[in-house]
Amino acid sequence: MNAGIIGTGHYVPENVLTNKELEKMVDTSDEWIRTRTGIEERRIAEDDMDTSDMALLAANKALDNAGISAEDLDMILVATVTPDQPFPSVACMLQDQLGAKKAAAMDVSAACSGFMYGLVTAKQFIEGGSYRHVLVVGVEKLSKIVDWEDRNTCVLFGDGAGAAVVGPVQEGKGILSFELGADGSGGKHLYQDEYVVMNGREVFKFAVRQMGESAVNVIDKIGLKKEDVDYLIPHQANIRIMEVARERLGIDREKMSMSVHKYGNTSAASIPIALSEDVENGKIKDGDLVVLVGFGGGLTWGAVALRWGK
Ligand code: UT7
Repeated sequence: MNAGIIGTGHYVPENVLTNKELEKMVDTSDEWIRTRTGIEERRIAEDDMDTSDMALLAANKALDNAGISAEDLDMILVATVTPDQPFPSVACMLQDQLGAKKAAAMDVSAACSGFMYGLVTAKQFIEGGSYRHVLVVGVEKLSKIVDWEDRNTCVLFGDGAGAAVVGPVQEGKGILSFELGADGSGGKHLYQDEYVVMNGREVFKFAVRQMGESAVNVIDKIGLKKEDVDYLIPHQANIRIMEVARERLGIDREKMSMSVHKYGNTSAASIPIALSEDVENGKIKDGDLVVLVGFGGGLTWGAVALRWGK
């Protein structure tokens, strides 16, 4: 049995924070942020909207899109580093709010790579025959752990949620290969103390190397060539990092997902938000070979090659 993505959905808060507004908050400029990161604006959740609230909105859309009900779920995995509280997990809160009575539930902590870790975990349960439907959510309210006086970090991040229902698909479709990795020795470059602390240059160097390498590896593993890739969804952290991954695969710009300019870096939510939007806009079509690739704190990384469709 092959596991694939059978439904997607996303939610981003309405409140937009522009680079111009950030100029009034810290010593930065719209020009610096645009040229160094590609970010123009990001969404910030209201005080009364926590991580689980955004997760619920995205999850309901993904369930509708998949055409299944919450009671059909066997498991819920929520990738986040900004849970409502340390425990109970966001996944358990979601299980209750959705009424997914049959579902096991846990959070996945792999920072910006969390959705990739969740997706690959879902694949194992489904292909192993234990479970049929797993909901994987990537969600962050980074605005609550960002130091709004630190220009090195506060200009980069945004809030949002993306969700995917993973279930059985036809032979030849679904997740064809994956790669997950970690290098704990690099943990010191990106972590949360009270707020997010980051050595941007070190993370940049790692990301540039790892994104391209992992994207190529998942294609190699299925015996296909870079030219066979129809669409690339890189973690939306920085346009310069995304461009390196794209060039490594040698694919055209219109074949790469782009939402970093409007949402900033939403960590674990970035790939599922991009995926959901691209499916909605018809950029991803039945039969397309799609590569998802992410990197993040840990340090961690993950990539998947999948043949789109049920
Ligand atoms: O999901 C994973 C999360 N993390 C990332 O993806 C981060 C990866 N790293 C990056 O995206 C980039 O390293 C940054 C966007 C964070 C920084 O870009 P950079 O080209 O690597 O800049 P830099 O760190 O070399 O800094 C250049 C200068 C510094 O000034 P000095 O030391 O050269 O005088 C910074 O102090 O830019 C300064 N700077 C700023 N200036 C205006 C740093 N942040 C800002 C800012 N506005 N917001």
